[in-house]
Amino acid sequence: MRTIDDLGELRGQRVLVRSDLNVPLDGTTITDDGRLVASAPTLRQLAEAGAKVVVVAHLGRPKGTPDPQYSLEPVVGRLSELVGREVSFAADTVGEAARATVEGLAEGEIALLENLRFNAGETSKDEAERRAFAEQLAALADAYVSDGFGVVHRAQASVHEIAQLLPAAAGGLVQAEVEVMQRLTEDPERPYAVVLGGAKVSDKLGVIDNLIQTADRLLIGGGMVFTFLRAQGLEVGKSLLEEDQVEACKGYLEQAEAKGVEIVLPTDVVAATEFSAGAEHGVVPADAIPADRMGLDIGPESAQLFAEKLADCRTVFWNGPMGAFEMEPYAAGTQAVAQALVDITQDGALTVVGGGDSAAAVRQLGFADEDFGHISTGGGASLEYLEGKELPGLKVLA
Ligand code: 3PG
Repeated sequence: MRTIDDLGELRGQRVLVRSDLNVPLDGTTITDDGRLVASAPTLRQLAEAGAKVVVVAHLGRPKGTPDPQYSLEPVVGRLSELVGREVSFAADTVGEAARATVEGLAEGEIALLENLRFNAGETSKDEAERRAFAEQLAALADAYVSDGFGVVHRAQASVHEIAQLLPAAAGGLVQAEVEVMQRLTEDPERPYAVVLGGAKVSDKLGVIDNLIQTADRLLIGGGMVFTFLRAQGLEVGKSLLEEDQVEACKGYLEQAEAKGVEIVLPTDVVAATEFSAGAEHGVVPADAIPADRMGLDIGPESAQLFAEKLADCRTVFWNGPMGAFEMEPYAAGTQAVAQALVDITQDGALTVVGGGDSAAAVRQLGFADEDFGHISTGGGASLEYLEGKELPGLKVLA
């Protein structure tokens, strides 16, 4: 993979950097700045090298036209603080504002352009449209740095096509993330466990398939676990259930058994009458979830079981919370898994927390990034990497 050093002398050069600044916002308040923290070093490095730094990124999923609720402007202040230099902002991406802003940049200055996805060409399914938009972006720069690991699985104009139009290289964040993903996929130290949570099994089908070939243990929690419990013939009450995935889950359970891969499911769950912090709730066995209750967390016995299954692991990848952790009564399972990872990290195991949501969860529960081996900025990207897929944003930098 080409790196920034391969781009040669950058002083005075306009360098377009694709970052992933897709942070959660409450109005205009950033609720988790992890992706900004992770993006800042590359921007600082380029500015210190004397480049004119043009940052492009997306926020949310606007529909190809400007939509103020998805403006990137709220991230400018925090990004400036983290980079340690003022970041200016252009109110469009390839229009007059962007062109004037880029033209006005002096060596070492940084500008952020408005949300890329305000332009239909960024995410278009039509390659010619993406290419046309990439050409407009490329006209703003002399070189391209891909530093948004969270989007390298997307074949989008600012991730893929543009890298074919300018001298292109991976930034330090993409480099670091790929190194960790390589450690997970190329001969991981064993036992190697993967903890999967989050709402939907259907989002994780490909990766589960692959993990049954590579991991020693698969621990499953979160909303997706109820489809697995159903596949074992259990009743799951009002819990989240993907009826159309029950057969797939049965297949995974059988395949895992045949391969000698241990699939660990909860033996108890915290079940509530409705999806709210104030709802009546209690711990019930996983095989006796009442018809009028929904499981919102793994129970205490399962939390202990999961911790035990992680205690001797030398490599762990974790994606997806164990329950509705944002509500205090349903946070204990996620907390227990996080603590188990922290403990083995101290013993020298490689622990990787993958994804914006999982990363935000551990921070919200009071853990520090340094407590884990690595906190990935890419959720979908890290899962697709583990799945063994070729990621367009990395292939193009080879
Ligand atoms: C993410 O949040 O995982 C990345 O920013 C990618 O966003 P997307 O799923 O909308 O492409």
